[in-house]
Amino acid sequence: MSKVLVIIGAPGAGKGTQSRLLSEKYGYPQISTGDILREMARADTPLGKRIKETMGRGELVSDEILAEVILTRTSQPDCNDGYILDGYPRTLNQAHLLEELALKQGKQVHLARIVVSEEALFKRLTGRRACPKCGEIYNIYFRPPKVEGVCDLDGARLTQRSDDTPEAVSRRFEEYRRSTAPLIDYYQQSGRLIELNGERPVSEVFDQLCAVLDGKTNDGETLSRAPGVEIQS
Ligand code: AP5
Repeated sequence: MSKVLVIIGAPGAGKGTQSRLLSEKYGYPQISTGDILREMARADTPLGKRIKETMGRGELVSDEILAEVILTRTSQPDCNDGYILDGYPRTLNQAHLLEELALKQGKQVHLARIVVSEEALFKRLTGRRACPKCGEIYNIYFRPPKVEGVCDLDGARLTQRSDDTPEAVSRRFEEYRRSTAPLIDYYQQSGRLIELNGERPVSEVFDQLCAVLDGKTNDGETLSRAPGVEIQS
């Protein structure tokens, strides 16, 4: 049966990092709703402007827009054998839509949650800088460039995502507590959510996610308990 892997986690938990690696290994497309929305926000249209403003404030884009995005993207032929959802669902409504969709598409849903303490998340996000030319990612706390604000690889000036400012990050955490925490409770109650410690090195988190996708874990299992306190509801 073809598969859907849902990766849940607070902003900065590593959903994008892990989805990219999994996509390379398994060949399933990575569907990042954040990336799709950022692309839509670049369009000079009323919808693009609305999305840009919402994201810039660190708030969630409406369930209606997300429904359209997910239905359109997952009906592409490259999703036939399976796909990885990075950033979807984020609300209970979105989870219900996904259940219906997966049933219709005949896909088995695997659920994994990456848990990271709020303190670590805050530094990961507010310290993140990217090279607009080559895409290299830096972090001013953990992996600073040799020259402040400049890419080591091509000398381009580094940029910061508009929603990685301390104010927008705090708002994203609030949204997560308000909208995504109930979704986690819902999945936990179903006993199908596998929880991973996202403060381990990227390669270790990756190995654990591979085990989830390969069906080598038990439902509702916790893989290496996370230290610290994640954003609480
Ligand atoms: P989105 O783009 O999905 O952002 P996010 O989930 O808030 O946060 P990130 O993408 O920054 O985090 P991530 O978990 O992917 O971590 P990453 O791998 O980048 O969404 C942006 C916005 O779009 C939302 O605020 C909302 O407005 C809208 N949106 C998107 N989906 C929506 C939906 N379904 N409904 C409504 N609105 C939606 O890693 C972060 C950093 O940590 C990186 O620098 C990375 O190098 C580092 N890192 C990763 N793993 C590790 C590790 N194990 N150890 C140390 N560092 C690590």
